Formats: sequence, structure tokens, C-alpha cells
Amino acid sequence: MIKTRLCDLLEIKHPIIQGGMGPFQTNKLAVAVANAGALGVISTSGIVLKSMGVDLGPLAPEGGDPYEVLRRIIHQTVEATEEHGKIGINVMVSAEMMDAARELVRAAVDARGENPSVQKKLKAIITSAGDPLPWTDVIKPSGLTWLHVVPSVRAAKRCEKAGVDVIIASGQEGGGHTAWEPVHSMVLIPAVVEAVKTPVVGAGGFADGASLVAALALGAVGVQMGTRFVATKEADFVQMWKERIVKSGERDTIIARGFVGPLRYLKNKASVELAEQTLEKIPNLFLGRPDVSLDPEILSKELEGTMALLGDDDERALFYGGEVAGRISDIPTARELIERIVREAEEILREMPKKFLR
Ligand SMILES: Cc1cc2nc3c(=O)[nH]c(=O)nc-3n(C[C@H](O)[C@H](O)[C@H](O)COP(=O)(O)O)c2cc1C
Repeated sequence: MIKTRLCDLLEIKHPIIQGGMGPFQTNKLAVAVANAGALGVISTSGIVLKSMGVDLGPLAPEGGDPYEVLRRIIHQTVEATEEHGKIGINVMVSAEMMDAARELVRAAVDARGENPSVQKKLKAIITSAGDPLPWTDVIKPSGLTWLHVVPSVRAAKRCEKAGVDVIIASGQEGGGHTAWEPVHSMVLIPAVVEAVKTPVVGAGGFADGASLVAALALGAVGVQMGTRFVATKEADFVQMWKERIVKSGERDTIIARGFVGPLRYLKNKASVELAEQTLEKIPNLFLGRPDVSLDPEILSKELEGTMALLGDDDERALFYGGEVAGRISDIPTARELIERIVREAEEILREMPKKFLR
């Protein structure tokens, strides 16, 4: 049995977190992951986009007032989760989403305060894509364990100042939203671990027992996985996406501009075109220079590729995905996956001293 500080802090059996994966729904996935003893996470950026008038149809959560929508989702998800299961909420706190983020955080805090079952199972809030400091006064008194995602040592130090309980150091090989100034997990995780006293979770590139052990060796207390969890049976993602992950090799990803900054996509016709368009219009993205200007043509191309997820052409649809897609070759249930990762990690930890210590 692998037990780390993360297991104690979140009251979970295995030191594994399912990353937030908006703007898509992850409600069913969150329940499956929580029931299997890891932290299942509800994604909320789709709620925000819908409230801004960006309609992703059935791909995103229902529309309406973000506060009410999230409270409803929390209640439904908690009800479907077994007694021991633990759920978290991911709220992106980037500048584009600030107003709605306030409502979402308030919804999580209120839902928890109102109902003992929600209080028991809704354990964590994972803020990402922005500055943690403005959130201390709202999140700290709520009783939620607070995790924040960072791409750098500088951002990790701000988390410590803000009073974040767990820092998620997210390497640039990860799927979806990535940093403007790229650093990958192998360098980022130990650098963050050395710079702060707060426990650190690694994200970006994790998929199996070997990579979990690597994260622990680098000083982390667990891993957060996105791409690996998309390719599971219960994940609320279209089948074409899961199969595209299985089909992709380790070189089959590409970075392009999306609504919330640079995004890592699985490589296909649509993402290569989006990257070419980004190179032409926002070259700063490829120079590691943050550029907040939003280009309408890029945004409409992104929306078109997202809506194509509802069709059956896997060259036209835009799929977020990390380099780790190249290490994924099956679509197990969340429980099979989590139990396999832990089994492999235990085996490696048992065998390594025999193999290497003289
Ligand atoms: C489909 C998809 C959507 C994502 N959306 C979000 C999001 O809404 N908020 C967030 O903080 N991170 C988001 N991420 C990042 C994940 O939470 C996670 O940190 C990342 O996938 C880890 O890297 P990996 O893909 O190599 O496992 C997304 C990732 C994917 C693959």
C-alpha cells in the first residue's frame, strides 16, 4: 500500500488526482475515480463559457447561472459517490474567468456548508491558471483542502504566501492548458519541491506505476493525471477522443493558442492548422512571451474544432492531450487503471532496492 501526505490530507486511499478537464464535463469520471479511492474532480470552465454565451452543446455542462449550475452538479455528483469517495472542484481563476470564478468558489463553499453529506465528500478545491493570493480569504476558512496548479517556482512561492495546502506543479508536457514559459515535469517538480515547504503533487506526463514512482522520487506526494483519465471507460468524453489518444505516439502533440492561453492538443489536421494560424498571428506564444490578446479568427477556429467533437472526423476535431498519450494503449475502467498504477508502483518500489542497492 502506498500512502503519502496527500492521502492523509484528502482522506483518499491512493495518491492520485484526476485533473480538472474543462470546458468539458467530468462529472461521471469524478464519481468513478472517487469510488476507486483517488480524488475525482468536477470541471467548471464549461459552466463559465456557457454563461459567457459560448455554447458547446452537450459537450459542456448545462447552461444557466454558474452559482446555481455548480451547486446542482455538486449535489448530483456527491449523491452518486460512495460513502468513502472524495470529490474536488476545479476552478480556473484566470483573468478571463474572474467574475464567474468568484461565483463558482462561493457555490462550492455554500454547498459544503449546507449539507453533511456534501461536507464529508466534497473535500478539495483546485484553483488553476491564475494568481492564488486573491482567494485566501474566501477559501481558507471554508474547510476545503486548497490545491493550486503552478507552472514555475515563482508561482509556487506565491502559493505558499497565499496559504495553499498542496501545490500542483504542472509540467509543459501535460494536455490542455499549459504555461507560456515552458518547463517540463522532470525539472519543474524537484525545483518546486526544493523551493517550498508545502507538499507538491506532480502533473504532466503521468500514466502508470513507473511514472508515479518517478514523481515520488522527485519529492512529490502524488500525481495529477488528465490525458490518462480521458481514455477510461467512464470518462464523459466522446469515444473518438479516447481512441485518438490510444492511436497517438509520444510525438503526436502540438501547442497552439486557445481561449485561456497556450494549449497542448493531440496532433491532427485541425490542431496543426490552429498552430500555423497561431504562429502567424501570435508568434509570442512560441517565444515564451505571455500575450493576452485574443484573436477572433483563432477563437472561431477553436470553437469549430471543439464542435467537430460531436461528429466522426478525427482530423477535424480538436482534442486536448499530453505527450503521455504516446504511453497510453488501452481504455480501462477508472478502477482498473488506478489499481493497476498502484500495483505496478508497489512492485517497482519492492524490486528497486534488490536491483540497485549493493
Ligand atoms: C481535456 C483536458 C482538459 C483540461 N482542462 C483543464 C481545466 O479546465 N482546468 C485545469 O486546471 N487543467 C485542465 N487540464 C489539465 C489537467 O488538469 C492536468 O493537469 C493535465 O492534463 C496533466 O497532464 P497530462 O495530460 O500529461 O496528464 C486539462 C487537460 C486535458 C487533457
